Amino acid sequence: MGQFVLHDRDENEIITVILNRPEAANALSRQLLLELKGLVHELSYEKNIRCVIFTGAGEKSFCAGADLKERAGMDETEVKQTVALIGETVSAIEKLPMPTIAAINGAAFGGGLELALACDIRMASSTAKMGLTETSLGIIPGAGGTQRLPRILGPSKAKELIFTAKRVTAYEAERIGLITKSTSPFELMLEAKDLAKEIAKNAPIALKQAKKAINHGIETDLETGLKIEELCYAATISTKDRLEGLLAFREKRQPVYKGE
Ligand code: COA
Repeated sequence: MGQFVLHDRDENEIITVILNRPEAANALSRQLLLELKGLVHELSYEKNIRCVIFTGAGEKSFCAGADLKERAGMDETEVKQTVALIGETVSAIEKLPMPTIAAINGAAFGGGLELALACDIRMASSTAKMGLTETSLGIIPGAGGTQRLPRILGPSKAKELIFTAKRVTAYEAERIGLITKSTSPFELMLEAKDLAKEIAKNAPIALKQAKKAINHGIETDLETGLKIEELCYAATISTKDRLEGLLAFREKRQPVYKGE
């Protein structure tokens, strides 16, 4: 277990990853990033994990993005290396094969929101605020924000948010489709776990193939996307879980999927 990144695995094979620097608004220091990247790498090879939830320690912040205090002492080469490290870590989260949820428990700015954008589903506490604030700091989003935000919100809204460096409330974020749901702070983790449990009931290989089909298909034309879907479907045909789904239906019971 790391110092700045904690994780917990429950009986449903749901992992909760907690960014753990509450005294620094869970900002992405180099040490935290190295721990997070290492953990995500390990999780990417874990066959049994059904869903991963990312959240922040404490009630105030999910993640305040790059560690601006650490950044102030860096030369240009170190800045480039650290920006690359944030980008690689966020991309590794996006590439996790199993479904992921960002449970945004408070402020999510800059790289913090970019991390959430790399998750499949985002939900937030009603007290959370979020935004890509980089242009107000003389830089631009450097961990995929200029690419993922327009894919989620469309280019016009994404440009408005990035050009103004605006901080939006959870209410506004839900209205524009940046998050799927806002909850009371108390209920956030319960709701995130409930959603993860609902996902975890379904067949793991099917979930991974559905994620792959959506993520690759969205990047291409419809015809190619449909071909990708066909290939991803084909990967489920020979699974024991597919047969278990059919059997459970016939026997009028809940299926027990093993990811095989
Ligand atoms: N890097 C390093 N430290 C940070 C940080 C960051 N990105 N964001 C916050 N912190 C530190 C603060 O300096 C403070 O430390 P201190 O007590 O030693 O002064 C501590 O975290 C708590 O932050 P504070 O601002 O006092 O708490 P808050 O609840 O009022 O506000 C934020 C939290 C996250 C809303 C606010 O700190 C903020 O806006 N941070 C900058 C976010 C940002 O623009 N990130 C983009 C980076 S590209």
